[in-house]
Amino acid sequence: MFYEKKENIDKYIKLAQGYDGRALVEILRQFLPEASSVLELGMGPGKDLLILNEFFDCVGSDRFPYFLEIFKEKHPNFKMEVIDALEMNTTFVVDAIFSNKVMHHFSKEELKTSLSNQAQHLTKNGIVAHSFWKGDKNEVIEKTFFQYYLEEELVEIFSHAFEPQVHALYSEMDRDDSIFIIARKKN
Ligand SMILES: C[S@@+](CC[C@H](N)C(=O)[O-])C[C@H]1O[C@@H](n2cnc3c(N)ncnc32)[C@H](O)[C@@H]1O
Repeated sequence: MFYEKKENIDKYIKLAQGYDGRALVEILRQFLPEASSVLELGMGPGKDLLILNEFFDCVGSDRFPYFLEIFKEKHPNFKMEVIDALEMNTTFVVDAIFSNKVMHHFSKEELKTSLSNQAQHLTKNGIVAHSFWKGDKNEVIEKTFFQYYLEEELVEIFSHAFEPQVHALYSEMDRDDSIFIIARKKN
C-alpha cells in the first residue's frame, strides 16, 4: 500500500495541504453532543483530528505508526494508538468513530466487517461518521485499492449494523465527488 513507505507519507502530507474535514466535523456536531469521545481511524497527518478535538475528546489512530510518530513530535500528550480499521484491534470504547477517506481502501466485504467490528467499540447509541469517494468503480493506484460508492449502496451496507442518520454529497476535488455518511448503532 502507498502509505507503507515513509517517503510516500511525506509526499502525501505535502499533497494534502489545503484540504481538511472541517465541513464534515460541522455536520457531525449536529449529531454528537460536545465533549463526546471520538476515535479517528486513519488520522494521517492529523489535521482532522485537531479540528475534531476543538469540540470533542479525541483519540487518534492509524494503521501506519509513522503518522503517529510525526504527529507526536508536535502533540506529545495526545491520546493515540496504532489501529487497523479493519480489525479494530483496540480496547477503546467511544461515543463516535470518524474517518475521512480511509474506508475506501477496503473491499465491500471488508467494509461490512470493519463496520461490525467498529460497532463493538461504540457506547450505546454510538455513531460512525465516514467519508468516501463517489462513483461506481474500483481501481488500484500505486499498489493501493480504492472502492467508490453511490449513496444507496453505502446506506445498504451501513444498514447491516447501523441506522443511517444522514448522507450527503460534498465536493473535495470536483463537484459532488464525495459522500459523508453518519449512522447510529442499532441497539
Ligand atoms: C486520506 S488519509 C486520511 C487523512 C486524515 N483524515 C487527515 O486529517 O489528514 C488516509 C489514511 O488512512 C490510513 N489507512 C489506510 N488503511 C488503513 C487501515 N486499514 N486502518 C487504519 N488506517 C488506514 C492511511 O495510513 C492514511 O493515513
